[in-house]
Amino acid sequence: MNTQAVTSQTANISVEGKSIELPIIVGSENEKAIDISALRQETGYITLDNGFMNTGSCQSSICFIDGEQGILRYRGIDIEDLAEKSTFVEVAYLLIYGKLPNKTELEDFSQGLTRHSLLHEDMTHFFSGFPSNAHPMAILSSMTCSLSTYYPGSQDTNDDEQMNLDVIRILSKLRTIAAFSYKKSIGQPLIYPDNSLSYCANFLNMMFAVPSEPYEIDPEIVKIINQLLILHADHEQNCSTSTVRTVQSSGASIYAAISAGIAALWGPLHGGANQAVLEMLENIQASGDDYKTYLGKVKDKKSNIRLMGFGHRVYKNFDPRAKILRQAADKILSKLGVKDPLLELAKGLEEQALTDPYFVDRKLYPNVDFYSGIIYKALGIPMDMFTVMFALGRIPGWLAHFKEQRDSGVKKIFRPRQIYTGPTQTTYVPIDKRA
Ligand code: ACO
Repeated sequence: MNTQAVTSQTANISVEGKSIELPIIVGSENEKAIDISALRQETGYITLDNGFMNTGSCQSSICFIDGEQGILRYRGIDIEDLAEKSTFVEVAYLLIYGKLPNKTELEDFSQGLTRHSLLHEDMTHFFSGFPSNAHPMAILSSMTCSLSTYYPGSQDTNDDEQMNLDVIRILSKLRTIAAFSYKKSIGQPLIYPDNSLSYCANFLNMMFAVPSEPYEIDPEIVKIINQLLILHADHEQNCSTSTVRTVQSSGASIYAAISAGIAALWGPLHGGANQAVLEMLENIQASGDDYKTYLGKVKDKKSNIRLMGFGHRVYKNFDPRAKILRQAADKILSKLGVKDPLLELAKGLEEQALTDPYFVDRKLYPNVDFYSGIIYKALGIPMDMFTVMFALGRIPGWLAHFKEQRDSGVKKIFRPRQIYTGPTQTTYVPIDKRA
């Protein structure tokens, strides 16, 4: 689908006395952009935008965020509605195929996910090759790329049928890989997928069941897992999604692109923040610091300490996902009868930060990671699996962006330019003549 939104309006840019007219693009929510693709050709100048703070890398119809108002929509539907009324599988369909599925479409999609949940048996041996303390994000990323070796047809990225099959395989099998990596890390036998269970119930069963005793799946926990995955399912051109699109632009396979997206998500400034939040809360608790002392350290620029789970490149208001998770944390902890002092600590920090001029002036609010870790902890999910949970949620978004870009007709490889600041032409000095 080509989503070009060119208007008849133009912008004039004047450089070194030369004036040029550039097209203006307006999105469906009235977001405006100047198309600068002809700038270098016309003037010899490029634009420089560290961290892509002001760069639109594509046009997309998947996800809309209004960071000033705190709005997030998938394919036009408010996140609050989806989190309350939908399931993760339905949201995955919505993101990837662009509309809510009808009954038959949803059934077919769910059945596909059920049928493709097993890994090739040879892949189960891979888990024994990793050290028992391997980070599960490293396992998830490498196993995702390894999956491509079992599906060599995925190299032909123009084959629609193959791609649709690979979409289903990735969505289904990454859940199995995640659960198997956890089981291996704690030395328990692998629990294979159970086709009678729903997507999220199956995941919980693979994570927490053991062969020696029955495991009862609590529907309320299934509901909260659905919600968590839905809330993480897409967030337009974030670091990992941009990575997926970058890899797609080179013509590499969908497995290679998703594996790279997982690697990008791992960092503590991105998906790794949910683990970092819990580590931060535990450290504050252990040090006996009160909110003010800790926030004082955060505000001291020399300390290099950030209030993890706070701030966002796009949201300059409440992250709507954080609002939903704050309530969900209260609900699930009280249902499970868990009294976690870290929840109180998080709430206290939030309250203090939201009235502190440092955070107010910079428009720093809690983001999705601030409360998610507390919920995962209450559900018995270990800390180094938190970012894996984020990845499982984000898979539909990555797949949708891969597919959108592949189908868009824009066949340009992502290849930014730079301003070179190194030495000018320098003579090669033989080693015996060097100082
Ligand atoms: N704690 C303290 N100060 C902060 C924080 C924070 N969490 N976030 C931003 N700031 C400050 C910066 O020091 C900077 O201050 P300055 O203007 O005095 O130099 C200002 O706010 C702007 O910050 P930037 O880093 O320029 O903002 P950017 O948009 O590049 O970064 C980011 C966004 C990476 C999310 C940042 O807010 C951060 O590091 N947050 C903590 C990590 C985190 O929670 N990441 C998860 C993000 S959401 C996600 O990926 C799902």
